[in-house]
Amino acid sequence: MSFINEINNANALIIGASQGIGLGFVRNLLQNERIAKVYATYRQPESAVELITLQKQHSDKLVCLAMDITEESQIIESVQLLRADTNKLHLVVNCVGVLHEGEMQPEKSLRQINSEYLMRYFQVNSIGSVLLAKHLLPLFRHQESSVFASISAKVGSIGDNKLGGWYGYRASKAALNMFMRTVAIEYGRTCPKAVVVTLHPGTTDTRLSLPFQGNVPPEKLFSVERTVTQLLSVIEQLQPSDSGEFFSWDGSRLPW
Ligand SMILES: NC(=O)c1ccc[n+]([C@@H]2O[C@H](COP(=O)([O-])OP(=O)(O)OC[C@H]3O[C@@H](n4cnc5c(N)ncnc54)[C@H](OP(=O)(O)O)[C@@H]3O)[C@@H](O)[C@H]2O)c1
Repeated sequence: MSFINEINNANALIIGASQGIGLGFVRNLLQNERIAKVYATYRQPESAVELITLQKQHSDKLVCLAMDITEESQIIESVQLLRADTNKLHLVVNCVGVLHEGEMQPEKSLRQINSEYLMRYFQVNSIGSVLLAKHLLPLFRHQESSVFASISAKVGSIGDNKLGGWYGYRASKAALNMFMRTVAIEYGRTCPKAVVVTLHPGTTDTRLSLPFQGNVPPEKLFSVERTVTQLLSVIEQLQPSDSGEFFSWDGSRLPW
């Protein structure tokens, strides 16, 4: 489809752009002359220092919006601000995700199951995306090609789960995949030019993977820049018939 090359003046929205893969997308898209505007969300200014610095350097192209995706009112407010500026989005990438947060660590066994932590995983990793889909829908109701991608994880594949552990993270990513597959069907009815996908980025050197990088061979640990380039290449090659699918960083399809 090559939608970024097909459309001049494309508008992109990156959710969860304070650091890691989201910030990498913002940096990449700011250099792309076919992208007219980059909207980028962050949850708290303390961890978004680099993003806010970028905004000062690219004030004509980059617009930053505050949004905690566990608060629907904040999603509504940010989408309202966005809609005051544009009525069309061509690329949305939801990069929000949590694997560990303070005391909450991925479970190694059933002994570590904690219902509050499980709810936190689902709130951040699954429900946030479907709330975004609810409120962003009007911005995809146009006749130009567009992509709505959510960053999932291969460990969210039920068919691929041979190791066990990480109950909350795995289940919340499996739920994300189901939510977005269902969104793809509904969007297909009202925004037929929008392709909705979930993407596995590969193990990437960010805060999220840092405590677990010990067992990862160096060639399998991607830099943020590499991951973003690879995911943009997958996005560029998407076809309308790919809507509702789950892709890995190399463009291959992952089992549900
Ligand atoms: N890195 C990997 O190896 C890997 C592998 C597979 C999948 N993934 C997925 O890739 C995506 C990006 O992760 P990453 O590696 O870039 O991790 P990261 O560096 O930890 O970034 C996560 C982002 O999510 C934001 N976030 C967390 N909770 C939020 C909330 N309630 N509301 C709004 N934003 C929130 C963070 O904002 P703050 O700065 O405010 O915390 C941050 O911008 C995630 O979905 C992750 O599950 C990563």
